[in-house]
Amino acid sequence: MVRVIQLLALAALSFAPVNGIELDVNSVDSIKSAASSLASQLVGYYTANSTGRENGTLPSPYSWWEAGALFDTLIQYSHLTGDTQYNSLVSTGLLSQVGKNSDFMPVNQSATEGNDGQATWALAAMSAAEAQFTNGTQWLALADTVFNILVQRWDSATCSGGLRWQIYSFAQGFYYKNSASNGHFFQLASRLARYTGNATYSTWANTAYDWTKSTGFIDSKFNVYDGAPIVSSNCTDVSKVQYSYVAGTYITGVAHMYNITNGNSKWKTELDGLLNQTLSVFFSNKAATEVACEKSDACTVDMMAMKGLLGHWLADAVQMAPYTANTVLPLLTSSAQAAANACDGTGCSLFWDGKHMGIDGNGTGVVGPSIDALSFVQGLLWQEAGLTGLPATVNGTAVAANSTSTASGAVASSTKKSDGVAMRAGMALLVSVLGSMMWFVL
Ligand SMILES: *[C@@H]1O[C@H](CO)[C@@H](O)[C@H](O)[C@H]1NC(C)=O
Ligand SMILES: *[C@@H]1O[C@H](CO)[C@@H](O)[C@H](O)[C@H]1NC(C)=O
Ligand SMILES: *[C@@H]1O[C@H](CO)[C@@H](O)[C@H](O)[C@H]1NC(C)=O
Ligand SMILES: *[C@@H]1O[C@H](CO)[C@@H](O)[C@H](O)[C@H]1NC(C)=O
Ligand SMILES: *[C@@H]1O[C@H](CO)[C@@H](O)[C@H](O)[C@H]1NC(C)=O
Ligand SMILES: *[C@@H]1O[C@H](CO)[C@@H](O)[C@H](O)[C@H]1NC(C)=O
Ligand SMILES: *[C@@H]1O[C@H](CO)[C@@H](O)[C@H](O)[C@H]1NC(C)=O
Ligand SMILES: *[C@@H]1O[C@H](CO)[C@@H](O)[C@H](O)[C@H]1NC(C)=O
Ligand SMILES: *[C@@H]1O[C@H](CO)[C@@H](O)[C@H](O)[C@H]1NC(C)=O
Ligand SMILES: *[C@@H]1O[C@H](CO)[C@@H](O)[C@H](O)[C@H]1NC(C)=O
Ligand SMILES: *[C@@H]1O[C@H](CO)[C@@H](O)[C@H](O)[C@H]1NC(C)=O
Repeated sequence: MVRVIQLLALAALSFAPVNGIELDVNSVDSIKSAASSLASQLVGYYTANSTGRENGTLPSPYSWWEAGALFDTLIQYSHLTGDTQYNSLVSTGLLSQVGKNSDFMPVNQSATEGNDGQATWALAAMSAAEAQFTNGTQWLALADTVFNILVQRWDSATCSGGLRWQIYSFAQGFYYKNSASNGHFFQLASRLARYTGNATYSTWANTAYDWTKSTGFIDSKFNVYDGAPIVSSNCTDVSKVQYSYVAGTYITGVAHMYNITNGNSKWKTELDGLLNQTLSVFFSNKAATEVACEKSDACTVDMMAMKGLLGHWLADAVQMAPYTANTVLPLLTSSAQAAANACDGTGCSLFWDGKHMGIDGNGTGVVGPSIDALSFVQGLLWQEAGLTGLPATVNGTAVAANSTSTASGAVASSTKKSDGVAMRAGMALLVSVLGSMMWFVL
């Protein structure tokens, strides 16, 4: 009897029609279709053509950085699904915010801009280079320009190094060093290093990472903390708040360093530690959660977009360090399912606990939950995009040695790859169900 009930439960879990946006994690077509609705919803919030609006930005109450994150999410969408309909909207949006010095410091933002915000846009430019958007030189140049500006701002006079949060001395955040700025700088350096093979970038990636550890912004248990004030504490009074995207930015940077050093043991140790702690801190009931604010329903508009960036960068990390797939993919899969269940025709809920669906409360911050859901759902496609979907380098599309793909082979083998994703996603689901069935098998 128990056995029958358990098996029925298993069957229900595998085939149940979902409540929110339909998503069968075993079907590439279904994943693409769900991603397509979510992308269309997200683009709908970017009303750049409305009267009084500025290209490349989101309307109030969104911060400038969130538009950069939105474009980065849509680049990933284009890269993973092959749906290029938003590419020109994304290119126009990114280029409209480069400012007169082509460094992502437009006049309308520069006074209040943070190093983390500027780096968010540079990371989107880096994604455009890696996804081989038209005119790769231009995207690489933007990413490199911001990298060099951040190098100039590296401040050894206080806290033995590190980037400050904000840029100008009249802004409060000038007197605080934060993990987001330093982590984004680290990630940017690691990806530039992979893309170009230029050692200047990897040297700085090492410097930025080692400084973060020595300051205790990443502690010995691999918690990633927010940052610390400079003047009062010389960065010793670390604020212990943890945000998911900050852990994510370090994880993907470490995975890139692991990859380009051919599995160097320093980076493997860091990657194992960061994954272990991050997956335990930021996932609850197998769904990603912004621990600092979700439970208390105190997420700001900014915070609502954070866990999507974690999902995006975890999926990227698996590509750079395939050995992490067994640990990471089950949680990406269950989160994607939970996210899809939390979305409906009106939008997505931030809360993936199975009790919420559609836009939360009064609708403040709809963009963030939409970025979150799309990032986790489309992240499942990395397996299908497979080795031919790797981010490009200066040498063009990276194709792994054992890939069977040629120009036509890529198409021919797509069915096989689809089975692959179905198998793996199915396994992830099975494993989670089997966990609760173990007692009767034994
Ligand atoms: C704005 O309008 C132009 C011209 O009609 C169009 O090409 C562009 O895609 C629109 N942008 C957005 C964000 O809707
Ligand atoms: C935004 O960019 C589009 C495409 O380049 C252009 O048609 C439109 O006029 C721009 N809108 C504003 C408000 O500048
Ligand atoms: C700066 O913002 C104002 C007000 O939103 C807008 O009218 C103007 O076009 C923006 N400037 C630039 C260079 O985009
Ligand atoms: C490509 O980017 C370069 C560097 O920013 C720029 O000079 C050139 O005009 C761009 N070419 C096209 C076709 O947009
Ligand atoms: C600040 O901390 C660094 C170590 O991170 C130390 O080398 C330096 O002497 C300290 N400076 C002050 C003013 O305490
Ligand atoms: C690009 O190709 C050259 C020649 O094969 C190689 O030496 C270089 O390492 C490659 N660079 C990257 C970043 O893959
Ligand atoms: C490597 O990158 C740095 C930083 O942009 C640059 O200054 C240097 O010229 C590059 N080296 C080569 C060989 O391209
Ligand atoms: C680096 O990434 C490529 C592409 O996923 C992968 O084939 C290779 O095994 C990775 N290197 C290491 C050391 O894991
Ligand atoms: C993972 O983290 C837990 C505590 O969070 C710790 O007990 C365990 O040793 C860690 N495992 C590894 C492999 O680092
Ligand atoms: C909507 O809710 C948020 C958070 O609960 C609150 O800060 C904001 O003032 C509300 N906005 C409106 C227009 O009611
Ligand atoms: C392909 O993978 C197999 C098994 O991992 C390995 O033995 C073989 O050397 C690889 N072939 C190439 C061309 O890298």
